[in-house]
This record gives sequence, structure tokens and C-alpha cells, in this order.
Amino acid sequence: MFRTLLLLLLAASSSHAGSDNQVLVFGGTGKLGSAVVRELVAAGHPVTVFARPASDRTRLDGLKVSYVTGDILDAAQVKAAFDGRDFRTVVDATARGDADDEFYPTAMANIIAGAKTGGVRQIILHGSVGAGDNIEQFPQANFGRMRSTLAAKGRAERLLIDSGIGYTIIRNGILLSADLPPTRTARLSTDQRLMRKVTRADLGLLTVLCVGNPDYMNGIWHAVDDSQDVPPQYR
Ligand SMILES: NC(=O)c1ccc[n+]([C@@H]2O[C@H](COP(=O)([O-])OP(=O)(O)OC[C@H]3O[C@@H](n4cnc5c(N)ncnc54)[C@H](OP(=O)(O)O)[C@@H]3O)[C@@H](O)[C@H]2O)c1
Repeated sequence: MFRTLLLLLLAASSSHAGSDNQVLVFGGTGKLGSAVVRELVAAGHPVTVFARPASDRTRLDGLKVSYVTGDILDAAQVKAAFDGRDFRTVVDATARGDADDEFYPTAMANIIAGAKTGGVRQIILHGSVGAGDNIEQFPQANFGRMRSTLAAKGRAERLLIDSGIGYTIIRNGILLSADLPPTRTARLSTDQRLMRKVTRADLGLLTVLCVGNPDYMNGIWHAVDDSQDVPPQYR
């Protein structure tokens, strides 16, 4: 009898621990974001996806997730996503689509303001290799019209670093097709000179690795997969 009671209490406390690590994902309906959501759910995290009312949710079909609706460029709608909920981790996997480059710092400022109203301990940003000053590491590359986008992504990174909230910046180089399975050989490197190819599925796995992990807190990592070829200009 006593043993049964003890087991019930342990089960109750472990399910509470699980609900403590709720994750809010921005961009979860996208190609990268849906791979992130898939792996978070597989790892047992309760996941909420912030999606626009008209977002196509088919990439998340069959996954047990909750939704909040809103536009990330609307500060009040982002703040409302945090109201009455207890997210510990936030993931930003958005891409600007048709919006201009200011999308990135505006979206990050809105996320930070919303996160500060709750108990968020970590914001994981899926950024880009070449963001901000990092572009200087690639003098051989022709970023063309991406230059202004990368400058804006650098400003988003800076807002996050200065926010006072725990942060994890994963800079992605060349994302491979969303249809590819994970190689499971991708890793996160502190070498900020690396521009590498990575599948979105592997980035989902790397995101799970970072959630609540002190080894990946308050820093910048470049996503790398040594099993993929390296374009000549980035060798
Ligand atoms: N492609 C590459 O090789 C490459 C390389 C390095 C880094 N990256 C970066 O990786 C990230 C993800 O890329 P992806 O190709 O996977 O993106 P994607 O498929 O285009 O997904 C973008 C996501 O952002 C959401 N979003 C856009 N505007 C929004 C808004 N105003 N409010 C709320 N949500 C909004 C979209 O929602 P909807 O479903 O409503 O559209 C979608 O879920 C981007 O930051 C991209 O710059 C890409």
C-alpha cells in the first residue's frame, strides 16, 4: 500500500517536472521549425506552436502540439501568447518570407518582451552563418542581397545576447531539403569560421540537445555535419 502511494507520488512529481519544461516554438509550421517541433515532441517536451491564423499546419499533422495564434511582428499578440502559460524555453525558427529585413530584430524584440513577462529561462535562436560581424569571416563569399538580411539578423542576435535571458544561438549555414532524413552526425561547433551543410532534421535533433542544457547556454554555435560535402569557397 505504502509502496503504491510512493509510486503514485513519484509519477505525479515527474509529470509536473515535464510540464515545467514547456516549449514555445515560433515558426513551427515552417520547414525548419516543423523538424524542430517533431524532435521536441519525440523527446517528450510539451510543445506549443505560435502560428499565424492562416498558417498551413500540414507539416505538423499527427503531432501532439498546442497552438496559439498571432503574428510575430505584432508585439501585443506575441505578449498574449505568454499570458497564463508557463514556458521555460522559446525557440525562434522563423524566416521573414515577404517581409523586409527588419523582420528579424522586430520579431526578436517582441519575443524578448513577451518572454520577460513569464518564467522563460532560455531562448534558442535559429540564426544564420554570416550574421552581423560574422560576415567578416567569409571574405571569399558573395552574399549579394543577403548582406542586409545578415546585418538585420546580427541585430536580432545582439538584442538576444543583451536581453538578460539565457540564450542559445545556432547559426545555420546551408540548409538541406526538408525531405532528407537526419544523418545523426551533425554537431554544434564554437568555430565561427565554419559555413556547412546541415539537414533540417538534424537541426531538430540539435535543438533538443540544447533545451535546458547548461553546456549550450549563453553562446553562439555553428551547425556542422562532417558527413556532408563542403562547397569549395567555404573550405
Ligand atoms: N535556407 C537556407 O539555406 C538557410 C540557411 C541559413 C539559415 N536559414 C534560416 O533558417 C530559418 C528557417 O528557414 P526555413 O526555410 O525553414 O523557413 P520557412 O520554411 O520559410 O518557415 C518560416 C516560418 O516562419 C513563420 N513566419 C513568417 N512570418 C511570420 C510572422 N509574421 N508571424 C509568425 N510566423 C511567421 C512561417 O509561418 P507561416 O507558416 O505562416 O508562413 C513559418 O512557420 C530562417 O531564419 C532562415 O533565414 C536558412
